[in-house]
Amino acid sequence: MLRIFPSLMAADQLHLGQEVALLDAHCSGFHLDIMDGHFVPNIIFGPVLANAVDRASRNPSWIHLMVDNPSFFIERLTLKAKGIVSFHIESNFDFQYIISQIKEKKLQASLAIKPKTRVEKLFDFLNPMIDHVLIMSVEPGFSGQKFLPEVLQKIPVLQEYCREHQLSCSIGLDGGIVPALIPEIKRLGVDHIAASSSIFNYDDRIEALERLRE
Ligand code: DX5
Ligand code: ZN
Repeated sequence: MLRIFPSLMAADQLHLGQEVALLDAHCSGFHLDIMDGHFVPNIIFGPVLANAVDRASRNPSWIHLMVDNPSFFIERLTLKAKGIVSFHIESNFDFQYIISQIKEKKLQASLAIKPKTRVEKLFDFLNPMIDHVLIMSVEPGFSGQKFLPEVLQKIPVLQEYCREHQLSCSIGLDGGIVPALIPEIKRLGVDHIAASSSIFNYDDRIEALERLRE
């Protein structure tokens, strides 16, 4: 089943509580982008807001760290168990340490990869401790960009590697996702999508979310 996580970046920033209350029963959880202005040239949410959204939702959250130093931010997360924490393999991290931080908090460890990074780079880090892989389908940093279809080629390569090495990790896609892409995304066996403008650019958020589900 494809799980949908509204990404709050394009939501009404002055009414985030209302956005969360409205959509919580209609989605699998919220996707929160944490940026530091260095790893990507933008700033949106921080751990304080991510923790507040997590408390307001009955679902586990999906945190997407676009930061140079993921450990600093993970230390400040107080999410409920089973939340997903995606950190970029292009950032700086001590692999053993970051995994122990995530697991101690009973969260799922997720490797995120930028569109231009080769999928084979993930193989340096995949092991049984990794629960999830986030394949970015736009350059990280901004919502409202156009989907990059070439990233879809990474999915079967990753699935094949996992099969060969008896690893099981779910796959997420984030960026530029519109309803017309959903059949192909489902066919490829993607588990989670994060979507922002295709939900929050519409007055009727629930209807927009349902369009993604169909
Ligand atoms: C981009 C973020 C995405 C973004 C998606 O760096 O990671 O989560 O909010 O926005 P849309 O769906 O508008 O591309
Ligand atoms: Zn994201």
